[in-house]
Amino acid sequence: MFSVSAEYYDLVYGNKDYQGETDRLRGLFRRFVPEGRTILDIACGTGEHLRLLPEYQVAGIDLEPTFVRIANEKRPDGNFQIADMQQFDLGTKFDILICLFSAIAYLLTPEAILSALGCFKAHLAAGGAIFIEPFFERKEWHTGRAHITSGEDDHRKVCRLMTSDREGDVSILIGHYLIAEGIDVRYAVERHELLLLDRDQWQDFFREAGLSAKYLPEAFSSRGLYVARPFPTAPASS
Ligand SMILES: C[S@@+](CC[C@H](N)C(=O)[O-])C[C@H]1O[C@@H](n2cnc3c(N)ncnc32)[C@H](O)[C@@H]1O
Repeated sequence: MFSVSAEYYDLVYGNKDYQGETDRLRGLFRRFVPEGRTILDIACGTGEHLRLLPEYQVAGIDLEPTFVRIANEKRPDGNFQIADMQQFDLGTKFDILICLFSAIAYLLTPEAILSALGCFKAHLAAGGAIFIEPFFERKEWHTGRAHITSGEDDHRKVCRLMTSDREGDVSILIGHYLIAEGIDVRYAVERHELLLLDRDQWQDFFREAGLSAKYLPEAFSSRGLYVARPFPTAPASS
């Protein structure tokens, strides 16, 4: 999935406003989990949000080993592991769970989504909350577009041209990469598939997983953010 681009992710997303996003997240954490001290970043990528949250104790999981290595370099005090968000057991709970930049949409089936939400819930400490940034809704996805992004550091230059397509409710993104290290230039292609889900579909998944979720349209990014917590358990009748 990110086997080509993981190494260049922070270059390609050099213009993404991680600082602004993290500032808004911090405000949301204070509002929803004021006593929160620990964060698990699910599908953490290179750990850029966690790098900007030094006051929290952090952990992260990701499928891609290169991301886990980079996240660990950014937060050597954190606990980062290669794991699949569909099925993981870290043996510990966290006050705050985050799953950002639409990573959840890489799960393409209801079974995978429900299994992941079950794992999220199982890792949530009492009083905690889960923050999930979704992908686009079905009507929002435009096919036939191409989008260019580039980035560089002292010795690498990367140019990515991403095209958008669709098969049913699955968006297909093909990333064409031109990567220069010094004057060695190579071309590589990566295919990404992300599920397009509407808000009422998300609410059905949350309900089925035993979570109550509030959708915040603008509080984090233009994609919105779900804040989910387990349904309160009914008091035992006497
Ligand atoms: C768009 S990136 C987001 C990374 C990071 N959260 C951020 O905001 O920069 C999507 C991430 O999801 C990860 N991912 C996709 N499917 C996964 C899965 N089943 N389990 C764990 N990580 C997964 C990818 O490896 C990648 O790091």
